[in-house]
Amino acid sequence: MVVLGIETSCDETASAVTDKRRVLSSVVSSSIDLHKAYGGVVPEIASRYHVEYISDVFRTALKKAKKSVSDIDLVAATYGPGLCGSLLTGLTFAKSLSYALEKPFIGVNHIVAHLFANFIYEEDRHPPKFPFIGLVISGGHTSLYLCKDFDDFKILGRTQDDAVGEAFDKVAKILNLGYPGGPVIEKIASGFKGEKPVKFPRAYLGKDSLDFSFSGIKTAVLYYVKGKTLTPGLVSEIAYSFQEAVFDVICRKTIMACQNNNISQVVIGGGVACNKTLAAKLNEAAKNNGISLFIPPIQYCLDNAAMVGILGEELYEKGYSSEMELTAEPNVEVCV
Ligand code: KG4
Ligand code: ZN
Repeated sequence: MVVLGIETSCDETASAVTDKRRVLSSVVSSSIDLHKAYGGVVPEIASRYHVEYISDVFRTALKKAKKSVSDIDLVAATYGPGLCGSLLTGLTFAKSLSYALEKPFIGVNHIVAHLFANFIYEEDRHPPKFPFIGLVISGGHTSLYLCKDFDDFKILGRTQDDAVGEAFDKVAKILNLGYPGGPVIEKIASGFKGEKPVKFPRAYLGKDSLDFSFSGIKTAVLYYVKGKTLTPGLVSEIAYSFQEAVFDVICRKTIMACQNNNISQVVIGGGVACNKTLAAKLNEAAKNNGISLFIPPIQYCLDNAAMVGILGEELYEKGYSSEMELTAEPNVEVCV
């Protein structure tokens, strides 16, 4: 089945052509450079960028996949969560396409799609098997799920305040590192050469909790730099120590989620899953506990439409489809 995927939940305008779990093309055009001056995504700028580029991105995806419009069997698009204007652009484009082609349409949840980037076929990779623990770590979410099937999710824990990617972005702002914070903090942290790291607080929220909280560490960083000159040495010490604190909490809770539910696979997704330090730490923790860890190929950790296309097809084959009445749901929780 040739699936046309559309993703416009935040600052990436993305379209992909997928077939089963194979990606025939995946095109992403980001408005990130336009937001840098503001230190974060400006919703109106993101929406206007989607309006301007969605047609080109869609055409390029078809061309790269060597398909024409008439080859499309199913249109899948993200309907939430995300920025309202941004979601509406891609969703309206996708619904119009489905209507004009008289082909079925399915709305896909962005958070679920991040996890299912792990099902994208690539040589030498094998996909996870249900059930597994899903960990979504992005700019908007930090959540743990028990995933029993493509349409069977149970939330185990979520952030009570900032998402982990948001914490990276805010700490980067404090350290004058620009936006987005994740990649630059990772790079600078890797330059920290072994003196004593700062012991920033780890918010475990009680020994049994699977919820997260990252606003305290952001404040701790703010107090720590107060009155100090941000030398390269201090910045790399803070970047390293911040990552350690945040990743310690994520690793411990993820392993606990597996143990509590007797599960031996962890599947992660979202922009923060690009982070190699986290991958190494989680890998070690997983190995020590007899757990297998699944991380998507790096180009599918960040927002993309291939994950939307493959999840759309799985759901369609299970009998799901969406009506034209489906609208953008900026705050939707995980449900199919
Ligand atoms: O999944 P994503 O592309 O968009 C959302 O759905 O939010 O994630 C974007 C987030 C940003 O907060 C960014 O700082 C973070 O992912 N990020 C990283 C890295 N690359 C991107 N965080 C830590 N380390 C990275 N290498
Ligand atoms: Zn995302």
